[in-house]
Order: sequence, then C-alpha cells, then structure tokens
Amino acid sequence: MTTAARHDATATPGSGRPAVVDLRDVHLSYRSDPALRGVSLRIADGESVAIMGPSGCGKSTLLHVLAGVLVPDRGDVRVLGEDLTALSDKERARLRLSRMGMVFQFGDLISELTLRENLALPLQLLGGKPEGVRSRVATMLERLGLTEVADRRAAQVSGGQAQRAAVGRALVHQPALLVADEPTGALDTVTADVVMQALIETAAEQSTALVVVTHDNRVAAYLDRLVTMRDGKLVG
Ligand SMILES: Nc1ncnc2c1ncn2[C@@H]1O[C@H](COP(=O)(O)OP(=O)(O)O)[C@@H](O)[C@H]1O
Ligand SMILES: [Mg+2]
Repeated sequence: MTTAARHDATATPGSGRPAVVDLRDVHLSYRSDPALRGVSLRIADGESVAIMGPSGCGKSTLLHVLAGVLVPDRGDVRVLGEDLTALSDKERARLRLSRMGMVFQFGDLISELTLRENLALPLQLLGGKPEGVRSRVATMLERLGLTEVADRRAAQVSGGQAQRAAVGRALVHQPALLVADEPTGALDTVTADVVMQALIETAAEQSTALVVVTHDNRVAAYLDRLVTMRDGKLVG
C-alpha cells in the first residue's frame, strides 16, 4: 500500500502510459563486489530502451534483475505491476515465463530441436492447445522469414537465422517485456540489421516493451531511448 502510493505519487510527469518497469535505487553486490549502485529506471508500456556502457559496468546484472533472475540487496523492483522482491522464486519464474521474453548473445535455442519446435516450447509450457500453438508458431516463423528453414534443427541453420528464431521464441507468447543481452553481438553488421529489424518490428506490433543491452550504436539507433551505464549506475 505504502509502496504503491509512493510509486503513483512520483510517476514521471506527463507520461500517460503505465510503467512496465519501475526500478528505484537498486543495489546489488556479488559477495562484497558492488555491481549495481543505486539504479533507478522507468520504462513505459511498449517503450524500447537501449542500455550501453563498458564491459563490467553492470548491464547484464541489471537485465537479470528486470527478469527476476536476481533479487537485489535493496531497492524497489516493480516489473509488470508486480513487486519482484516480494515474490517467491516460483512466482517470479511463472511471471517470466508468461509475460517476459529473453534473448542472449548466442542462440540459446535447443540445438537438437527444429526451429518450429523451439518456438513452440514457451506456448506448450504455458498450456497452449496444439492447434493454437501450431498456428501461432507458423505465423511467427512467417513473420520472421523463417518458414523455409522451420523444420531444420537449430544446429543446422545460419547464425542470423538462429538469432531470428531466438527472437521469435522470446516473442511468440506476446510478452509485455522483452530483455535482450547483446542480441546481435555475435553477428556481422548486415545480419545484425536484419535481426534488429525483426526484433523491433515484431515487438512494436504486439506492444512489447524492449530493453536491449548493446555495444553497437547502430543497434541503439533503432530504439526509442538510450541509457548509458557506468560503474553500476545509470548516467545521462
Ligand atoms: N556471477 C557473478 N559473480 C561474481 N561477480 C560477478 C558475477 N557476474 C558479474 N559479476 C561482476 O559484476 C560486475 C558487473 O558485471 P555484468 O553485469 O556482467 O557487467 P556487463 O554486462 O556490463 O559486462 C563485474 O565486475 C563482474 O565481474
Ligand atoms: Mg554483459
């Protein structure tokens, strides 16, 4: 009650959209090494944000806090209307599965499954009916230009195709928030552009908010807003 009232009272003036992410003064240390030193970040519904900063400044740690993988030592973490610090591990995992997507630098697909099977996984875990799952997956594969390679195993497609499929798997259940950690870091610039375009356009179509960590100015240029991180803090 107190927390909710405080968040309402200090909501960013003029921004009509509800916050998908609202972090306040978040601190997190690995043993005694501080990785986050007072991070506050508000992201509106459907907004896309790039996070840039030198290696080791805490970008991946911040994404893990947003996704509820790590719980900070102190600070408020409101994501998708939930106070993540108040949820159990199981509740956070459930929220992540149902309403978030994650993409990492190296195709985190299951290499023995086909692209189609990889995309079906989150929907199956959420209890989707086979016919609904099939059609939703086919639509997403088509959307990403992957129909022709849909029945190849993940190990047998190109890096760009695998990364597009990883984007598809992260978005197939129409999450409200997608976090991506250097999603094009292992790709050449042409392929990176194709993957980013697919990511941005698909997220925009379904109003998925995006937080993308990147080293690449070209990638950051695709997003609504750039946030710079240094020594565990957001600057500028
Ligand atoms: N699991 C971990 N255990 C101990 N220290 C870690 C761990 N993960 C990250 N760190 C440290 O925390 C700091 C921030 O790391 P990270 O969030 O991975 O930064 P970035 O993604 O910006 O490179 C770094 O000093 C890193 O060495
Ligand atoms: Mg990192």
